[in-house]
Amino acid sequence: MKNKYADIITNFYENYDEDARINKNKATQLEYITTMHYIHKFAKKRARILELGASTGAYSIPLAKEGYRVTAFELVQKNLDVLIKKAGDLPNLTTKQGDALDLDAFADDSFDVVLSLGPMYHLFDKKDQVQAIREAIRVCKPNGILIFAYITCSNIVLYNGVEQNKMSAILKRLDKNGRLPAVPNDVFVGYMPEDFEKQFDKTNTSKLLSVAADGIAERIEDKLAKLSPADFEAFVKWHLITCERPDHQGLSAHMLYICKKK
Ligand SMILES: C[S@@+](CC[C@H](N)C(=O)[O-])C[C@H]1O[C@@H](n2cnc3c(N)ncnc32)[C@H](O)[C@@H]1O
Repeated sequence: MKNKYADIITNFYENYDEDARINKNKATQLEYITTMHYIHKFAKKRARILELGASTGAYSIPLAKEGYRVTAFELVQKNLDVLIKKAGDLPNLTTKQGDALDLDAFADDSFDVVLSLGPMYHLFDKKDQVQAIREAIRVCKPNGILIFAYITCSNIVLYNGVEQNKMSAILKRLDKNGRLPAVPNDVFVGYMPEDFEKQFDKTNTSKLLSVAADGIAERIEDKLAKLSPADFEAFVKWHLITCERPDHQGLSAHMLYICKKK
């Protein structure tokens, strides 16, 4: 299945330094710490991990260094080239360029853990979202773990509306429940947590957890920047205690949905 928005996604990442993003500020660091925390919680030693949308290797490379057998799969060649260069000759890291909508390169039931930490951000059509989820589940082993990251609707509204000063224009696009319809022009897609999770209803998976990956950290980034290292560490500890709470989730910028294939 061809991704008709591949050019938009490629064009965005060709002009964006994704490699610098995850360490850009305390909010992105928190997203990274939280995501790694949950990968470690569920991935057994030496597990076979497929990372979809692996980008420049923020997760794939350290995971391979830790001894996991990692396949890094990425749409945008520019990002994959950075990953390959950074990885050097890590023996247990394989790379492949491709689209998360079509995982024909991989047989059914191949991986212990499938990470999709990016592709769902850029799927504007419902049927593509369903297809990406179906493909990720197909290549995961029975009893294997899938971790999906998605962006919340509130994050897109707060970023575009408040931080980019376009709140009146955003308000006109919202439906009566505050949903922002996905349009390729936004480049990023936001989901209401309940809508994202509903997509798994008819799949052969069972939900394990939903997690606020970064909570409101993006919104209070300037204040987090002023914390001492010890206080930031304390903030991270608090976040990891509370990030599974439903009341910490809807306003989180990024969410993780973690499930198990039956
Ligand atoms: C925001 S980055 C996240 C990268 C990394 N996983 C992380 O969390 O730091 C999203 C990545 O997903 C890739 N991507 C987007 N759509 C994709 C698709 N349909 N198939 C494979 N990769 C995709 C992008 O090119 C980009 O490198």
